[in-house]
Amino acid sequence: MLVTNKDIMVPARKNGYAIPALNVQNLESLTAVTEAAVEEKSPVIVQITPSVIKYAGLAYIVGLAKAAAQLSPVPVAVHLDHGENFEIASTCVNLGFSSVMIDGSFLKFEENIALTKRVVDIAHPRGVSVEAELGKLAGVEERSVEEKDAILTDPDSAKEFVEQTGVDTLAVAIGTSHGAYKFKSEAKLDLDRLKSISEKVSIPLVLHGASSVPQWLVEKATKYGATLSGAKGIPEDQYKEAISLGIAKINIDTDLRLAFTATVREVLANSPKEFDPRKILGPAKEAMKQVAKSKMQLFGSSGKAQ
Ligand code: G3H
Ligand code: 13P
Ligand code: ZN
Repeated sequence: MLVTNKDIMVPARKNGYAIPALNVQNLESLTAVTEAAVEEKSPVIVQITPSVIKYAGLAYIVGLAKAAAQLSPVPVAVHLDHGENFEIASTCVNLGFSSVMIDGSFLKFEENIALTKRVVDIAHPRGVSVEAELGKLAGVEERSVEEKDAILTDPDSAKEFVEQTGVDTLAVAIGTSHGAYKFKSEAKLDLDRLKSISEKVSIPLVLHGASSVPQWLVEKATKYGATLSGAKGIPEDQYKEAISLGIAKINIDTDLRLAFTATVREVLANSPKEFDPRKILGPAKEAMKQVAKSKMQLFGSSGKAQ
């Protein structure tokens, strides 16, 4: 069934688990994620970025995602990830996304509030929930305290931002970054900052750039020819504490991409005579599904679908 992020994230924050928000790009990644959710009896957020909309075509990818959600026996939200302006957010609201992110994190505080509020004003009357972002997703290793404070989310500003915008969920910056190379040395989140934010903000919080970059996947891809040296993600033991401090949505794209790529490389290397796309993409879909299921188990959403 199609639900909003708010529908599934409010119970998640209240009850101490998080919903995996998994990025999809095509039929294989979409069905990997929705089948994983059914097998795990887990609510899930399927998320689509503007660059996927360009790649796959808006009507096609949204049509597929909405059909998958509507046919699913478990709650599935169809969410715009990193909507960068009002136009894309309003197009997605009108096209039937159940949730949109308006990412004004690159704007000045007051401008981010104004843009976010504008999206909330058109989304809420349509029953669509809104995620916004405050702070910047960037590596903070080897930066001064002042530089870190300028990048990471300030707890008092987060409180004011939520009050002024009426947003449903908030993405916070606590030291994660997108992609496969998150840390050069010690992998560490600013959990003290997250604690202060969660004491001031009661809506569900979102962690972007949250892939763990499993080393076994890096090794598998490397074995079959990939170059990924230095790839490093979030240590799995840090999720538990982040969830206990209000994180109710954990965004994963990179780990699914790694599973896909490692498996396509493996199949092509081991079966040079194979040229049926289904025999190449089928195992890759299965590998993404296993990653999706492992996130549901790790974040505690398995078994939470009513
Ligand atoms: O932040 C989300 C993604 O990992 C970047 O995705 O390459 O589809 O824009 P994209
Ligand atoms: P990763 O690159 O860590 O998977 O982050 C994905 C993300 O935040 C999508 O919005
Ligand atoms: Zn993100």
